Amino acid sequence: MAKAKTQFVCQNCGTVHTRWAGKCDGCGEWNTIVEEDPMGGIGSGPGKAPKKGRPVTLTSLSGEIEEAPRIPTGMGELDRATGGGFVRGSAVLIGGDPGIGKSTLLMQAAAALSRRGHRVIYVSGEEAVAQVRLRAQRLGAADTDVLLAAETNVEDILATLAEGKRPDLVIIDSIQTLWSDTADSAPGTVTQVRTGVQAMIRFAKQTGATMVLVGHVTKEGQIAGPRVVEHMVDAVLYFEGDRGHHYRILRTVKNRFGPTDEIGVFEMSDKGLREVANPSELFLGERNEKAPGAAVFAGMEGTRPVLVEVQALVAATSLGTPRRAVVGWDSSRLAMILAVLEAHCGVRLGQHDVYLNVAGGYRISEPAADMAIASALVSSLAGLALPADCVYFGEVSLSGAVRPVAHTAQRLKEAEKLGFSAAVLPAASPDLPKGSKGKWREVDSLPDLVARIAGSRLKARTDQEDG
Ligand code: TYD
Ligand code: MG
Repeated sequence: MAKAKTQFVCQNCGTVHTRWAGKCDGCGEWNTIVEEDPMGGIGSGPGKAPKKGRPVTLTSLSGEIEEAPRIPTGMGELDRATGGGFVRGSAVLIGGDPGIGKSTLLMQAAAALSRRGHRVIYVSGEEAVAQVRLRAQRLGAADTDVLLAAETNVEDILATLAEGKRPDLVIIDSIQTLWSDTADSAPGTVTQVRTGVQAMIRFAKQTGATMVLVGHVTKEGQIAGPRVVEHMVDAVLYFEGDRGHHYRILRTVKNRFGPTDEIGVFEMSDKGLREVANPSELFLGERNEKAPGAAVFAGMEGTRPVLVEVQALVAATSLGTPRRAVVGWDSSRLAMILAVLEAHCGVRLGQHDVYLNVAGGYRISEPAADMAIASALVSSLAGLALPADCVYFGEVSLSGAVRPVAHTAQRLKEAEKLGFSAAVLPAASPDLPKGSKGKWREVDSLPDLVARIAGSRLKARTDQEDG
């Protein structure tokens, strides 16, 4: 066998380089490449010549399917995000910024499962036993039978897990603290993290225990982030939120056993995370209905409608190049809407700074928000507040046409439930509910929308400003 050469691995994306470089070609990050020993590690492949293979029976695509056995936690929002509970024998990665509440969420889940009679082991590599106990006390989980260990060595953890009755759920907090004797690199490097995670996944597959792995998102790239193990696990959930706001969103980005577009919504309180069953009420909580530039978007998150306010501020600029700042939405999508407004609606924004914000630190990923955003922009520019009881949704195309989006009926139902009696939506929307009390105003193009909101006012204003 050839002599093992050292390799250089980017700690941010895992790209392997043959020599050290200041910048990683894979992800473009600086100073993230670290020298590692490629031969170390439980999962680094066979060390001797491979044995002769044994043929396996090939089978057809049809046949009996077994439903994945799940263990629901009873925490509705968590079960929603996982697709109905943790699947036995699977590995779930929960990523998120440090301090966002991952340990809190998992301690609450551990307590809930323990109360339902499951054997739960919580392995903390970051906090001492006393710290974890303190948190458990605060969360009212101290009286449960959750078993606790403060350990970081992979072999020791596996030996501990193998003792006694098989656990139903194991929580490893966090993967970045795991280190194995068999890998030579320093703890926190890609090799160590991958080795540790691989060993934990193997334990889950062999025993049928669910393995929940916590991974910190790392911006500096000093330690390997959850990205480098995403492909190895069965499900990836990200716990997101803004430190300045008290609510948190658990978003599914990969799920081999369920849908990937679900979210769970929580609110951080002094007694831990509280489930938010109706997120719309939360995101619309602090609305100022009379201010120009605010529009309520009727969005969808997976199977659930979510109403959220988008706020725009359009102001004359003193800079040569006007500013465009966006929080909670895609900035290139904003550029597109501005271009369509200029090209097809005669709304000139070249002399204006544009600021866009989605209320409450929420992030919108749906193109259906185009209409709400265009409405907020036009409303701010014209200085006219939009009707307080109206919601907006619809996708805008580059030609200025407004396209129907999916789930019209569900969006409208949620709006009605929360007291909105009108909606501006794309013409020819399918499944428009009949016999409903609401006023649905169908628009077929962006110029039509601008005329409805601003009438002749915008034209007069922009002309006046120009000369
Ligand atoms: P934590 O779960 O430790 O975050 P992570 O594991 O993602 O790093 O949560 C840390 C924050 O949550 C901390 O700033 C304090 C806050 N917190 C509360 O507000 N209420 C609580 O009941 C708990 C346990 C934590
Ligand atoms: Mg933690």
